[in-house]
Amino acid sequence: MQELKIIKSTTLKDKPEQVGDFGTIFTDHMFVLDYEEGKGWHNPVIEPYQPMLVDPASAILHYGQGIFEGMKAYKTNDGLVQLFRPRDNFLRLNRSAERLCIPQIDVDFVLECLNKLIELESEWIPTKEGTSLYIRPYIVATESFLGVRPSHKYKLFIILSPVGAYYPEGLKPVKILVEDKFVRAVAGGLGEAKTMANYAASLLAAQEAKSKGFSQVLWLDGVNLKYVEEVGTMNIFFKINGEIITPALNGSILPGITRDSVIKVLKSWGLTVNERKISIDEVVEAFDNELLEEAFGTGTAAVISPVGILQYKDKKMELKDFESDSIAHKLYDFITKLQYGKENDTFDWIKSLS
Ligand code: COI
Repeated sequence: MQELKIIKSTTLKDKPEQVGDFGTIFTDHMFVLDYEEGKGWHNPVIEPYQPMLVDPASAILHYGQGIFEGMKAYKTNDGLVQLFRPRDNFLRLNRSAERLCIPQIDVDFVLECLNKLIELESEWIPTKEGTSLYIRPYIVATESFLGVRPSHKYKLFIILSPVGAYYPEGLKPVKILVEDKFVRAVAGGLGEAKTMANYAASLLAAQEAKSKGFSQVLWLDGVNLKYVEEVGTMNIFFKINGEIITPALNGSILPGITRDSVIKVLKSWGLTVNERKISIDEVVEAFDNELLEEAFGTGTAAVISPVGILQYKDKKMELKDFESDSIAHKLYDFITKLQYGKENDTFDWIKSLS
């Protein structure tokens, strides 16, 4: 691989006082890497953040051959910059790449380039509680060609955005509608890949849910609309009669890094987490029997988000508040403390920028 080139912007933007809505502000620089068949990945460059020139025939615009990741950089009270499990995000990017016929990246090299980018943009990392620098790596097919086959050219970008809470509710419990008409993915489809198509498939359901006052939808399985899969931008956990349950990864569920972290943290606390099928009927029955103790979502953008209301058809299930003795509250506390360097990292998840 060639050496990373760095072209610094001569006109730096003013840094905002507030982070604003999620993903609306972008830093001064971005990372770009090109791929061409026969040449491999080449031309790594950090350059000023700018609009890109896209050929109207680019494959991504027609057939959606693209993948992305979401991760965050945090600033500690001592001014250290930390990433949370960044390697796992790039390993997942490679798994998504395989599913979408996109060439594999050199994870260590791209990680090095990301570190350089964040070093350059470290003043953009917000420091108020609950804020961080969201990192969006993505790969798009750029060959100008209208035939349906994998592209011969790609671009990998990494852009950065200072963010706060993902949901407008902030850290308050979210209202989730169980989707009983549309489906997100089926086994054998794209569900476990982090690809644009899955999010496009989710928009109409999310829009309808929003018009009814909900933040997001809870997806059920794509065949029988019976088993719980995941929420719009997060994985889901339930606590039923003391049992902590999350749907088992089945090919149509996104293997969340936060999901995996939560399972490992809970196990380290001596708690059992059952990754298994859970039907929406089981959730409703548990609620009716006053055994549904908690529901919460996990994700990079969403962190740990307690569910306050879960509505399935006409059944409105109101869950207890985000109390300090809840699992969701303890997890939120523990994981954010790890991320902001306030908790000893016994898991080896934190990567500090040297
Ligand atoms: C993330 O949590 O990083 C996600 O990818 C969710 C995103 C679609 C906002």
